[in-house]
Amino acid sequence: MSRKELNIGLYGFGCVGFGLYEVLQKTPGLKANIKNICVKDRNKSREIGIENFTFDKNDILNDDEINVVVELIDDADAAFEIVSAALKKGKAVVSANKKMIAEHFTELLELQEKYNVPLLYEAACCASIPIIRNLEEYYDNDLLESIEGIVNGSTNYILTKTFAENLSYDEALKQAQDKGFAESNPILDTGGFDAKYKLLILLAHSFGYVAKPADIFNIGIDGIGELELKYAREKGLKIKLVAQAFKGTDGNLSAFVIPKFVSTEDRLYNVDDVFNGVLAKTSFADTQFFVGKGAGAHPTASAVLSDISALSYNYRYEYKKIRQQENLLLSDDVNLKVLLRHKKEDSETFKQQFSAIEEAYTNNEVGYITGTISFKNLRTIQSENTGDRSFILLHVVTGQEAIIEEAVLAL
Ligand SMILES: NC(=O)c1ccc[n+]([C@@H]2O[C@H](COP(=O)([O-])OP(=O)(O)OC[C@H]3O[C@@H](n4cnc5c(N)ncnc54)[C@H](OP(=O)(O)O)[C@@H]3O)[C@@H](O)[C@H]2O)c1
Repeated sequence: MSRKELNIGLYGFGCVGFGLYEVLQKTPGLKANIKNICVKDRNKSREIGIENFTFDKNDILNDDEINVVVELIDDADAAFEIVSAALKKGKAVVSANKKMIAEHFTELLELQEKYNVPLLYEAACCASIPIIRNLEEYYDNDLLESIEGIVNGSTNYILTKTFAENLSYDEALKQAQDKGFAESNPILDTGGFDAKYKLLILLAHSFGYVAKPADIFNIGIDGIGELELKYAREKGLKIKLVAQAFKGTDGNLSAFVIPKFVSTEDRLYNVDDVFNGVLAKTSFADTQFFVGKGAGAHPTASAVLSDISALSYNYRYEYKKIRQQENLLLSDDVNLKVLLRHKKEDSETFKQQFSAIEEAYTNNEVGYITGTISFKNLRTIQSENTGDRSFILLHVVTGQEAIIEEAVLAL
């Protein structure tokens, strides 16, 4: 198959946009030329001459010679306007904007169909890890049971630095920002929203389930306190922000983002710094583990480059699992073994929300409970959180464990 020549209109020349410019210079084999670059701030100094830039998005959209739009801006609303206009004009699009994709997944699917143009977004999920294309292509005939992983590079960097180097949370966040790992609005990372957007994309490509961001529960790392860090250190555990989706015994899906204690036996334990790691559990192949850099200019640009290259061979996502229409539902019907850190005076109230308690501790100010709680009760306690409590997942209670716990309770 001969390769299509690509004339690119690039939006954004920040961390990833400039990264892409650099990696394209080093990839002469790809017949892809950046024809125009649109940015926002007229007064910013640029790494290349000002003649390469426009400040009017329509200069790219109305240019018939441009057949590919690469959208790498940090504003999800403006990105949706650009991406939807480009698709309507029949231009193929590559984007790294998980917030935009998660918030408009169905509309973007419809636009791709209606105008018969592809939209690729490998960089939007785990940056350098080719997870979307693997879920699309490789697992087509295998039955996926679960997908679990560290999908946000900057929170993993922050957690690694607070554990390994005893850096304060604020210092670690500042470092992540200085290195270009963090979103412009840090709450997207630290609040677990960025991980949630990625989980939404993973859900669509692994299980064919299209969720809305509000459907997926997320807790970030911004509420983790000293007590949980001390607990982890004493037990030889690390805390990782983990996104997961799995099919339950009732055949329905559960999906959430919650910080998790991981032990040395967990493959996510050694996924540190800006790395991401994803575990895919399948019926026949057992568990496969993908690992790679989850943020940063060149790792993210490498995924954008791969999408551009795929477009030169007319590749597009087929969304096979969405079309298989398994009629899966998102379910709250799952029990979790967790640590809940709380104010001392909340101890008795919260204990009643647990179906089994392993350990309960309080000092003069705070306390913690470890044990089993239903996802519904966890959501309720978290919805009233004013910063005085935090949940860390120990593990999802499996069918067998739940049966044993129920039997013990019945005694
Ligand atoms: N950084 C990472 O490691 C990483 C990893 C994976 C995915 N991503 C995603 O990649 C995208 C870009 O991230 P980034 O880190 O490169 O952001 P960034 O460094 O903040 O750069 C953002 C760029 O977008 C431009 N921009 C903002 N609004 C615009 C508009 N309305 N029209 C035209 N240009 C506009 C800015 O223009 P000015 O230069 O004029 O300010 C800037 O060049 C985001 O969607 C992010 O979620 C980033």
